[in-house]
Amino acid sequence: MCGIVAYIGSKPARELLLEGLKRLEYRGYDSAGIAMLNGGLHVARTMGRVSGLEEMVIDDEAFNGTIGIAHTRWATHGEPSERNAHPQCDDGKKGHGIRIVHNGIIENYASLKTYLKERGHEFTSDTDTEVLAHLIGELYNGNLETAVQAALREVTGAYAIAVVCEEEPDVLVVARKGSPLIVGVGKDEYVVASDSSAIVAHTTQAFLLDDETVARLTRDSFRTTTVENVELTPEIQELEYSLEQIELGDFDHFMLKEIYEQPATLKTCMQGRVNAIDGNIVLGGVAEFAEQLSKAKRILLLGQGTALHAAMIGEYLFEGLAGIPTEVEFASEFRYRNPIVEEGTIAIAVSQSGETADTLAAVQEAKRRGAITLGAVNVVGSTISRDTDAGVYLRVGPEIGVASTKAFIGQVAVLTMLATYVGRRHHLGKELMTELLAALEAMPMHIEKVLGESDHILQITKGVVDRDNWLFLGRGTNYPVALEGALKLKEISYIHAEGMPAAEMKHGPIALIDKGMPVVIVATKGSQYEKVIGNMEEVRSRGGHIIAVATEGDTAIQKHCDDVIYVSDVPEPLQPLLSVIPLQLIAYHAAVLRGKDVDKPRNLAKSVTVE
Ligand code: AGP
Ligand code: GLU
Repeated sequence: MCGIVAYIGSKPARELLLEGLKRLEYRGYDSAGIAMLNGGLHVARTMGRVSGLEEMVIDDEAFNGTIGIAHTRWATHGEPSERNAHPQCDDGKKGHGIRIVHNGIIENYASLKTYLKERGHEFTSDTDTEVLAHLIGELYNGNLETAVQAALREVTGAYAIAVVCEEEPDVLVVARKGSPLIVGVGKDEYVVASDSSAIVAHTTQAFLLDDETVARLTRDSFRTTTVENVELTPEIQELEYSLEQIELGDFDHFMLKEIYEQPATLKTCMQGRVNAIDGNIVLGGVAEFAEQLSKAKRILLLGQGTALHAAMIGEYLFEGLAGIPTEVEFASEFRYRNPIVEEGTIAIAVSQSGETADTLAAVQEAKRRGAITLGAVNVVGSTISRDTDAGVYLRVGPEIGVASTKAFIGQVAVLTMLATYVGRRHHLGKELMTELLAALEAMPMHIEKVLGESDHILQITKGVVDRDNWLFLGRGTNYPVALEGALKLKEISYIHAEGMPAAEMKHGPIALIDKGMPVVIVATKGSQYEKVIGNMEEVRSRGGHIIAVATEGDTAIQKHCDDVIYVSDVPEPLQPLLSVIPLQLIAYHAAVLRGKDVDKPRNLAKSVTVE
């Protein structure tokens, strides 16, 4: 996501726009920019924070105008850079002096770009947004509103946009679909922003644009229509949000919001990449290495913490689906271990932030020893994404909660897509591929369903939250899920927890089990189900309190456990995407019940950029 602010009225727009961007900077902050209509069109853009943009324009008279647009970016297409910063433009032989700021993703930007290039448009950035600017320019015939309407009818994806045009210096056009945009209505002025925190200082009267709605604003009037130019009458309402409240919506913590975002962010992660009907995976970011991937002799998965747990799931998937020897390494150990990296090794760095020092160092070590390096990273343009030869972005949006949830799902999904992408070039048959991809496409729906169990999970957690030592057990791909569940509980509730392979318990840890000790066991239907039931009985006979994650319909399991949380029946390789959700919610509820700071747990940082 990103922050958009736009203004048209009689006051100086510069300070209003900059202050608004500062309030929205938590939404995205890799670069920023502003465009001002003031006897011509003036634009300033910069890498980094809004403060850098402010230094550029604060004393520049060109920015004394009263109509402008501004943006603070969270990149999705095109590295963070000055040329990829917004406002983007339609400059070139066919330009009309159009400037646009955009929040969202233009999914069909590639085909539109090809079409526009064939009609003589030249592009200066790697963004999807610039394509929209040129499309508006292509359709412009003296009326910015109708050009924007026409362009948006050709677009698929999500957008909140503000557009100005040098040829119409007294008009501001805004529109949205899927990304928020609010129009503040003042006296002969309008303040438009991604959320009301940038508006309430100027007016508390506003209307929210509905999806596929366009508003044409002048200094003393506004007109709203659908993209089909059907006139609308928006309801002007009183704004009363705080910034925190806006971003949190109905949630008490960012971590809970991000847990609930997972169906949507998994969809975004897979968008344009998973095609179940054709049994295809399209990963543009690694296409140039498709051959090296399919001929890889060994895959090395590197990460720390939650990212390492995702990597451990990747190990099962690459070996099981692609038949390539794979190993997972703590990045911090790999970098000092004098590792053997043979020819044909591909090292994949898994990281939400793309800034984890140990993971970055491990990537560099792997590269030094001749490996091809790929990234499965969330933050576009982060150091790891730049240091690796190629990669697949998670595309789950900024993760604000320190405890990683939606990024974990994104990491597992990217590794699943990579494993099937390679597997299909090996022994993975079309039938199984199509079955897996269909199940993958349906996964957001299954996650949505288990999120509906949150109250039930809260009741279960209440029953054991006073216990200070927990065990988490799982087998196969659910073993790393057990580790992830233990980490989530530890890092936000400060309860000590240990995850391990269910079979490992007998080799010592079973001595820990006393009456009532909480033992969370992932016991979904799969190749080792009967073995897991046996492990449950071992725990039960020693008085442990078993919380089972089971496959819906499996009523037989109830006699082996104290509590059960059901998840949909999905193919075993994909189960981690689902079985982790109850464990995230157990950790969240335990932390809240214990009164802990869920979003900023003690001693932790969101990104460990030190060794
Ligand atoms: C996740 O809940 C933790 N906050 C932590 O383990 C994190 O996964 C680890 O520090 C790696 O971070 P990265 O994904 O940004 O590289
Ligand atoms: N997709 C656009 C880009 O990458 C907008 C990203 C955002 O929402 O900040 O520039």
